[in-house]
Amino acid sequence: MAEGGALLLVGCGKMGGAMLDGWLAAGTASRVVVVEPSGLPESVRGNPAVSAATGPADLFSGVGPSGFVPDVVVLAVKPQVMDTVLPGYRPLVRPGTVFLSIAAGKTIGSFEALLGGGAAVVRSMPNTPAAIGRGMTVAVGNAAVTEAQRTLCDALLRAVGDVAWVEDESLLDPVTAVSGSGPAYVFLMVEAMAKAGEAAGLPAELAMRLARATVAGAGELMHQSPTSAADLRKAVTSPNGTTQAALDVLMAGDGLQPLMDRAIAAAARRSRELAQ
Ligand SMILES: NC(=O)c1ccc[n+]([C@@H]2O[C@H](COP(=O)([O-])OP(=O)(O)OC[C@H]3O[C@@H](n4cnc5c(N)ncnc54)[C@H](OP(=O)(O)O)[C@@H]3O)[C@@H](O)[C@H]2O)c1
Repeated sequence: MAEGGALLLVGCGKMGGAMLDGWLAAGTASRVVVVEPSGLPESVRGNPAVSAATGPADLFSGVGPSGFVPDVVVLAVKPQVMDTVLPGYRPLVRPGTVFLSIAAGKTIGSFEALLGGGAAVVRSMPNTPAAIGRGMTVAVGNAAVTEAQRTLCDALLRAVGDVAWVEDESLLDPVTAVSGSGPAYVFLMVEAMAKAGEAAGLPAELAMRLARATVAGAGELMHQSPTSAADLRKAVTSPNGTTQAALDVLMAGDGLQPLMDRAIAAAARRSRELAQ
């Protein structure tokens, strides 16, 4: 981020807090004002780059850090409170300020309606591994977002993991279905592997330990390797071996793929419904 760039973080819970820690660790923020009912998180108290405000009144009425004009307003409150919270920040709408939302399901159109015309808006969809700096975020901006603002938002989102940009906002529904909700599918797979291990005779605790370590280890192997998922799979599959026996079941016509197709389609459909 450019030297002297300033951020306003609205909502500093799980995601907002993880992002704030990421920005400070990576040096991507020179000044951050945080609006959060519970005050500043413990991890940033005493940091001279971070100050607290109790709400928009502090910013615009001579109280607290009044006169603060942020380059980016990061919106990290729950989607259900966005409609009541956002209009308070309308005075910040100007060409030099971009609103970056991480709220699930809130469309660019809904932000434009709440902020008024001309607001530069980036909508993004992160996922929970962002809390450990390993998130996957997909972002889309409206026509008012400049190239420099897009670069700035990219740097802010990159502080908590990988970032991809799309031009078509409707892709955020399948994105939500794959990467947004995806961590839950992986956790379910651990549960299912552990249950199946138990059914095959393992003590419950050992089955869970094996399933959890296997998924975490395989995930890390994939993270560190440039090899495709399919090639990593083939590398551990000897012809007529044990892995092959399991994959014959998982890759059968009624195996994992049609199940995953249905699951992802259901999540994408629900994402579209929630955005209505
Ligand atoms: N967690 C995820 O995995 C995840 C993944 C993708 C996207 N997101 C999105 O990230 C956003 C934040 O989620 P989260 O999990 O971080 O929720 P969270 O932990 O509840 O954080 C939201 C924070 O906003 C605060 N807040 C409430 N009203 C406020 C106001 N008027 N001004 C400023 N702050 C206010 C809340 O304080 P109180 O608790 O005191 O109300 C809370 O600390 C959501 O929009 C969600 O859709 C989350």
